[in-house]
Formats: sequence, C-alpha cells, structure tokens
Amino acid sequence: MKLILPLFFQLLPFLAHAQISVQNPLCENRPDPIGLDVLIPRLSWQLQSSHRNVRQTAYEIKVGTETLLKNKNLIWSTGQVASEQSVYVPYNGPALQSGKKYYWQVRVWDNRGNTSPWSAPAFWHMGLLQPGDWKAEWIIPGFPETPGRPSPLMRKQFTLKKKIRAATLYATAHGLYEAHINGQRVGNDYFTPGWTSYNKRLQYQTYDVSALLKEGQNALGVLLGNGWYRGYLASKGKNNFYGTDIALLLQLNITYSDGSTEIIGSDTSWKSSTGAIRSAELLHGECHDARAEKQGWTTAGYNDAQWAGVVVKPFSKTVLIATYNEPVRKHETFRPARIFQTPKGEQVLDFGQNLVGWVQMKVKGKPGDQIVLSFAEVLDKAGNFYTDNLRAARNRDTFILKGNGEEILEPHFTCHGFRYLRTEGFPGEATADNFTAVALYSDMAPNGRFECSNPLINQLQHNIQWGQKGNFFDVPTDCPQRDERLGWTGDAQVFSRTAIFNRHAHNFFVKWLKDLSADQLPDGSVPWVIPYITFGDPVERGATGWADAATVIPWNLYLLYGDERVLAEQYASMKAWVDFMQNRSQNDLWNTGPHFGDWLFYSVNNDNWGVSAITDKYLVAQCYWAHSTQLLIHAAGILGKNEDVATYSALLQRIKTAFLKEYVTPGGRLASNTQTAYVLALQFDMLPDSLRPQAAARLVDNIKVYKNRLTTGFLGTPELCHVLTRFGYTDVAYTLLLQERSPSWLYPVKQGATTIWERWEGIRPDGSFADPTTNSFNHYANGAIGDWMYRVIAGIETDEKKAGYKEIIIRPRPGGGLTHASASLQTYYGQIRSDWKMEAGAFTLEVHIPANTSATIYIPAENADAILENGTTLASAPDVQVTGVENGRVILKTGSGRYRFQIR
Ligand code: BGC
Repeated sequence: MKLILPLFFQLLPFLAHAQISVQNPLCENRPDPIGLDVLIPRLSWQLQSSHRNVRQTAYEIKVGTETLLKNKNLIWSTGQVASEQSVYVPYNGPALQSGKKYYWQVRVWDNRGNTSPWSAPAFWHMGLLQPGDWKAEWIIPGFPETPGRPSPLMRKQFTLKKKIRAATLYATAHGLYEAHINGQRVGNDYFTPGWTSYNKRLQYQTYDVSALLKEGQNALGVLLGNGWYRGYLASKGKNNFYGTDIALLLQLNITYSDGSTEIIGSDTSWKSSTGAIRSAELLHGECHDARAEKQGWTTAGYNDAQWAGVVVKPFSKTVLIATYNEPVRKHETFRPARIFQTPKGEQVLDFGQNLVGWVQMKVKGKPGDQIVLSFAEVLDKAGNFYTDNLRAARNRDTFILKGNGEEILEPHFTCHGFRYLRTEGFPGEATADNFTAVALYSDMAPNGRFECSNPLINQLQHNIQWGQKGNFFDVPTDCPQRDERLGWTGDAQVFSRTAIFNRHAHNFFVKWLKDLSADQLPDGSVPWVIPYITFGDPVERGATGWADAATVIPWNLYLLYGDERVLAEQYASMKAWVDFMQNRSQNDLWNTGPHFGDWLFYSVNNDNWGVSAITDKYLVAQCYWAHSTQLLIHAAGILGKNEDVATYSALLQRIKTAFLKEYVTPGGRLASNTQTAYVLALQFDMLPDSLRPQAAARLVDNIKVYKNRLTTGFLGTPELCHVLTRFGYTDVAYTLLLQERSPSWLYPVKQGATTIWERWEGIRPDGSFADPTTNSFNHYANGAIGDWMYRVIAGIETDEKKAGYKEIIIRPRPGGGLTHASASLQTYYGQIRSDWKMEAGAFTLEVHIPANTSATIYIPAENADAILENGTTLASAPDVQVTGVENGRVILKTGSGRYRFQIR
C-alpha cells in the first residue's frame, strides 16, 4: 500500500486527463479550412467524455504560425478563460496576414475537475486578403474562338531553382477551371470556382500544392469550360450572362527552404491551345474528341511551340473573395443494375438511383468511333427512354475514340440529372463493367440520420436525402435536369430546415445568402433566383414565400447552428425585404404584385366541383409578410436593436389586424377554405387564441373531405404536419404521412421514386406523365416533411432560447403504427440521438445528449413513477430531475450522457 499510494497520486493527473478530451476542432465551421478571408475567424470544438453531466468550465486556446509544439511561434494565447463557450470563440490576436497558415490547439476544464489534454493541432490558412496581393493577371486564349466554343487549354513551364518548403495555388476563372501541376490534377474539387453573383463576388480556391512541385522543371496546365459564367443557363436559350470571355486568373506562391519566396502567376508568358473538349455546356453536355488529346500537356518538357500566346485582360480583381463553402466533389458511384433494350430498340442502362453527376465510360474501339450517351430520369409507360421533361436541355455527352486500346472517359464541365443512360454507337457488347455513374454534389458532411419501422417512410427519407444531394450543387437548385437548375429562392426557403438536419449545410447557405444580399434590388425586393439571372420578365422578383428566403434562412441558421454572425451580416437584407413589403402595402394589406402563391397545389381538370385547392395569393402574402416581420423582430432582439423591435412589433400587430379584417369572417372562416390557408394562418399566428382551435378543426375537416389527403403546394406543405401536431392532431399528421394514394408523400415512393418529385402526381396512376414543362423527378421542395420526421417522430429540437442545440429538447411522438424510430443529428456540441421503440406494448426511449449541453426530455407517461431509467426508478436515478407533467407527458431535465427510459 505504501508503494501504491504515491504511484496513484503520480498517475492522478493522467487519470484525470483521460476523463475528457477535445475533438473535432473547427474554424469557421470547417475542419482545417484553406483560403479564408474572414478576418476574425471563430473556433469551435467538442468535448468528449464517457461521464454524464459534463460541462466545460474553462478553456485555453493557443494559436501559432508554425507547429505549436513547445509553445514556439505563438501569436495568441488566451490563458485559462472561465467560460462554457465551446462554439464560435472569436480569434482575438494580432491581425491575420494574407496567405499565412495558423495552427491552433485548445484544452478544456470541466465541472468534474478534469482537464483535457491539448487537442491535436488544427489549422486555418488565410487567403489573399487584398486585391494587391494578386500579382497575376487575367488572361484569355490568344487564338480566335471557333463555333461551339471548344474548351481552351492554358499552360506554363517554369524552373524552380531551390528546394521548396511550401507552395500555395490560388485560382479562379471566368467560366470553370481544372488545374494540373506536373501531370497531376490539383485537388479534388469540381465545378470550380463555383457559382456566385460573379460580377460582384467571384470566388477563388486555395490549394496546398507543396507536394506537387519539385526543384527544377515544372509545368502548370489549366483546362477551362464555359460553366455558369458564359454557358447556356435557364430556359430561354441564352448564354453569356456574365460576360463573353473565358479567362483564367492563377497565382502560385512559393516559399523556399531558405525562406525566400517567389510568385508564378498567369501572365503574358503563358501559352494557349484547344484540346479534346470540342464543346461543354452545363445543360447540353460535353463533346470529347480523344483523338485531339494533347499527351503530356500538363508536364514539363511538352513541346508547346505550336501553341498560341495569351492576351492579358483588365478584368476586375476587386470582386475576388475566398471560398467559404464546401466545393462540389465526387461521391457515390453506381454500376448499372440492368442493361436492356427498350420497346423502341434502344440500349438503356438503369443505375437504380436518380442522381446528379455523370457517367464514366471504359471502352475499347477504333479510332473515330463515336459514342453518344443520353440521360433520362424515367422510362415512359411503354418502357421507353423519356426526355420530354428535360425541355430544351440536351443532356448528351459525345465521345470520339482515339482507338489505341482501353480508354476511360468522363466529362469535365457538364452534369446531368439521371437514373437511365441510353448508349448509341458503343462498340461491341456493353456490360455493367463499362459504365460507372458518379454522383457529384457539394461536399457537406452528412449530419442527420432518420430511420423507423416503416420501410416506405425509410424510402421517403432516402428520397429526401437524394433530392438534397442532387440539388445542393454549390447553389441550392430547384431541379438538376431540365433547362432550369437555378437557385430558386422559394424552394430553398421551404427546404432549408430539413437540409440542415440532413447535412452540414451551414457554410453552403451562408455563401448563398451573401449572393442574395448582393443581388437584392435597391428597393429591397429579392429576385426569384439567386444568383440572379434575368428571365427578361419585368416582375421576376419580390414573390411572397420566395423572397422570404432573405429572412427565413438566416433565422434557421441562427436557430439550428446558433450562428449570430449570420444574423448580423444578413440583418440589412432581412430588413430591406420587410420594408419592401411594407412599401408595397396599402392600409396594412400587401395585395399587389404577381406571386407564385401555393405553387403546384392540388388541382384537377374540369373542376366543376370546386375541389381544386386554390388559396388566395394575397392571403398567402399577408401571412408571409407577418412571418418575415416576426423573424426580423427576433433577429433585432438578438442583435440588441431595441428600436427596431418596437417599430416592427407595432407593424406586425397592424399586419395581423388587417388580415383579420380582410380574410377572416367573424365566425373564424378564412376567405380561402383550403388546407394551405389554415396552415399558414395558424403557423404564423395570424389568428387570435380564441379562433385557433376551430381553425385547426376546420383544417382537419378539410383533410377529411379530401379523403385523408393533402392538397397543399410548395408553401403549405412544409408547415402542414407541424400545424397538426401543434394543435393536437399528430394522429392526422401521421395519417397524411402514411397515405399512399396521391396526393401524398408515399404515392411517388409506391411508384418506385428514388428522389422527391416536383409534382405529387408526376406519374399518374395510369402511368401517364403530368405536364412535361414542369415535371421534374428530382425537386426537393416537398421533401420538407423530413423536418417533421426528425422533430416530431424522433422528437429532436433545439430550445429556441439557447439556439444551436446548447439546450436540447427530446420530445418523440410515437404514432402511425410505428414500432420504432431512431434519429441522430451531429451538432457543434456532438451527436444527439433519440431512439424509441414499442415492444409488447412497452415504450423505451434511449437518448444521447452531447457534453456541454443539457436536455429537456418528454416521456409519454402519465406519471413519473411509471418510468425507469436504466432499470432504476426516477427518484433514485442519478442525473435526472422530474420537472413536471403535462398532457400525458412527464418532463425531465438531464445533463449530457446516455439515458435509457422505460415505461413500466
Ligand atoms: C421551378 C420551381 C420554382 C418555380 C417558381 C419552377 O420552374 O422549378 O421549383 O420555385 O418555378 O414558381
């Protein structure tokens, strides 16, 4: 014992260390971001502990320019700061410098007396902060462009005379670019520089290319494509939305081992030529002539004597910004599940999943063999390849073979929304081995998982996830296949909360909102699509429920990520939109302007019986005006703008009073007797308390009239089940969710859908198609039901007063005959889980609450005595407090940790 005790005390600090650790360090919401132009980056981390009830009591951060080991090169150290804050701690050291890499570490103390070890060093890398940091010039090819606009190649060979310590490449383009160094592709990002409002904000990307360069001869080669900058966009057959020139701006900053530096940039010394890509358009596909490939053009020693020079252009450098969101990358791959002949005699491959990306082909043929690949989402009733719903988008890739053995070919600057592939001209027999479908989408980490005992709902969840994957393509698009693919604001607005459950969509939306502010008009109206491209329509802005993306999405980012900065940055835009509505109103009624209203609501042909569910567009507009005003008031409150709180609260009262006068009868009936009208009036608190229960009852009656089916469109659908739950009709919400006859969420699932459809009845029960001009089979908007599945079935919520899941609410609402449901969500504090099951009539709920948070848990039980936690009565269960009983639910309070509740 004498010997053991001192040893115990010696080991004590290590034992204490092992009790807690710091994981997942994030800077500006991303691990190790490279190329940041945020001058005060915010640092976040997670506590990991196997104990319950763990809270951070203090933290210490250190930041340095080289490795932090032995505390050398420190530029900022907080010392021990007594604070619970583990998310968004702002960097507060000396001004950060252009192009510099900063390492950081953090350690924490907890309420149990433990100290964590220092976290493993993480880093962030600053981008080029001043226009003057760009020494390179914008260059365009030095040869006349030919019809079809082949993709140009640009290259430069250079010698590095010393050993290289580090090298960073900064690149952007007018158009799209793909950079190579010494024969290797730089990074694994696609469709760079992404899509922004180019003339105001053009992103560049930053790459650590230290490992790609060598002392001696090196070569840089860059391939360019038209992309969004000057390619065909939208439905009017127009191109050149941002300019006519395809151009490159690229700069390589090299630091040698001796500390000296050198910059190699795009300038007059570059060479240009055409290559294998004869044409490339996002909507129409790519034509690749492998015979024209220039072997070795991105390596040193390639003879470019025949190449043209380049021309320097004075394009703006002041619009350049670093990239804040995750780039588009390659993800899942699929082999064809089936290769078959259609009744028309065409060869078609089925990949089993409607996805967005392209097909990589492995092929052997003769020189000049031409293979045409066409893409479709569905087959028609007869089993033929169906492309009418793609409208004018050609979606066709053509490959011409070199014919010197096996060739592996894929496009570079186009993408397709498809499940089926038609091949024409494939030499020999096509096998599954010849084709791989590659899904491409913004590289946001998967954050949420939902699963339950009903396989149809699980398929619905799968379809929602794939709807998001296919349409989160640097901007949130309405659909990915036809001649549209635009950042439709309404679609993004209604789906944003579901999107945030599914994936880490934080920076994706922050970036897009900045384009929204940039493209907002001086009168405060928000264009239909962001980035704004004109349809040539004088009224393409200011639509209710669409423009409200300006208020709804910043609010959701605050609520679900706890991000106050996004509210501060978007506040002027939020306010401008609310002011626009007020300016357009008369007598506190906003009843002007064209609107989409409850887009794609249930309507029938020859509607003699009045079954079409038409909701007055101005009734909708009044509700959304109130909603946006309410969100603005919330935001003003959080930002301490008390005057605005007072002004807009008074306005909100007037909006609601005017609503009651104009749209509600004294008996409480709404001017439009539709589900959407009742849903919006209830969800946005347009009615006084006294009129709410009967309005909810009318909604339920209406659902019954339609034989337990929904009739809502884009604006009513996302709120429908939430309103039913809020007013005590969760059973009706389950009935709607489980409805298999159209209109319903499960009807497309029963029809074999693998994504969310634009229309409830995209394929009718008789197998015919709805109107091909708006019949996308990959349109996420109606997938907004995902939010209800997470928040109500599994019951995961954030406490609105402690946004970002600092205080968690777990309130599962079993029903619909489900025997279990299980969901998890990765938050900035760690993973939340809520799993419940019904077994032999007994209810069990298992939850996981991450460290440094606490939870309020609602258990469906009559009283606390009926509940056991891990086999112990609540009275003797550690770390659980009963705080109340309400409507058949016992309310508990817990700290972090795992809990298992059972009703006896
Ligand atoms: C898009 C929609 C969009 C709508 C506006 C359509 O063409 O695909 O999703 O919101 O136009 O009503």
